[in-house]
Amino acid sequence: MEIPFLDLIAPHVELEQELTAIIRRVLLTAGFVGGPMVEEFEKAFRTFCDAGHCVAVSSGTDALRFALMASGIQPGDVVITVPNTFIATTEAISQAGALPEFVDIDEQTYNMSVDKLQQFLEKQCTWDKSGKLISQRSGRPVTAVVPVHLYGQMADMDSIVRLAGKYGLTVIEDACQAHGAEYFSKKLNRWMKAGSMGLAAAFSFYPGKNLGACGEGGAVTTNDATLAGTVKMLRDHGQVKKYYHDMEGYNGRLDAIQAGLLHVKLPHLAGWNAQRRDRAAGYNQSLAGNKAVSLPFEPAWSRAVYHLYVIRTNDREGMMNHLKSAGIGTAIHYPIPLHLQKAYASLNYREGDFPVTEHIASEIVSLPMFPQLTEEQQSRVVEEILAFTTKPHPG
Ligand SMILES: Cc1ncc(COP(=O)(O)O)c(C=O)c1O
Repeated sequence: MEIPFLDLIAPHVELEQELTAIIRRVLLTAGFVGGPMVEEFEKAFRTFCDAGHCVAVSSGTDALRFALMASGIQPGDVVITVPNTFIATTEAISQAGALPEFVDIDEQTYNMSVDKLQQFLEKQCTWDKSGKLISQRSGRPVTAVVPVHLYGQMADMDSIVRLAGKYGLTVIEDACQAHGAEYFSKKLNRWMKAGSMGLAAAFSFYPGKNLGACGEGGAVTTNDATLAGTVKMLRDHGQVKKYYHDMEGYNGRLDAIQAGLLHVKLPHLAGWNAQRRDRAAGYNQSLAGNKAVSLPFEPAWSRAVYHLYVIRTNDREGMMNHLKSAGIGTAIHYPIPLHLQKAYASLNYREGDFPVTEHIASEIVSLPMFPQLTEEQQSRVVEEILAFTTKPHPG
């Protein structure tokens, strides 16, 4: 039995008739760009996220870039994020004209460490005479922070929002992997959805995401009407209405066909997320007590949606090879921390700068995780992990 890392066909078989009806509708009305399908999806997704506004765009990268640009960051500003994320996070920061600077992640959740953020703000920044917070590393003003809700689990948002407030920073959530993830805010005394806690948030609808398009897609959510209006202009050549350009923008719209397909899938998202949580609980239960692996940690304040189920083992290559030969797909998210990527050599970070990220990067492995993963398939994955971790190794 082959077990893929991800099955992108199963959800489309489940919804084949409704999805093909959308494609027909778009073809027969030629409503390819903008229009009611996009607006209807935006309305449904903002309701799903408990956010006041949703602006659909062409990708998660554009969503983050537009959100940052619309939030008022200025060219040359520093935006703080983590080195344990996909490069799109920092691409969006750079492409918005800002400079990414990193703080390390928490050892248990693998998301932004609040302690490290606090240390950065307290010890690696100074206030200048005009009241700007300046990064000692680059000499530039620090104006925003982008926590990434990695693997489907939200970062510790109460603490991040509190620190950001204290230092006058804007918070833009990278929720590209976290559609439907929840965080219990002690401050607000209720569960909050990803995409509803920062000034704005970016979502990706890349096909493999918990809510995936049949191509590229993304969205910005926000409670700020002005910001939403600016993102609408940015995605559409800076237009307020056709051929009236208040600024230069981009070609960053979501296709109507993708909006329609996403709208068909959206009512299933909560159920699919529940199935992912159930599969995660299955892995947790069957692998608990196995000393050769560390399992994902979900704090009491988190309801993760397991975009990825990531374990750690100190013989990752051996385990991945063993699983591969048993027909089981795995992946690594991500093998090289961003501060050590060639693309960021000019930022002058060095090995040892972010020890937690660097350490986990050599141990993490993502196991098969998708809503349609059967109990039988999961048992086989677990069996093979147990066979590998309990067999004697040379040396
Ligand atoms: C954490 C994170 N940020 C941003 C993105 C960018 O999304 P997209 O691929 O839709 O541009 C992704 C998606 O891969 C992601 O995982």
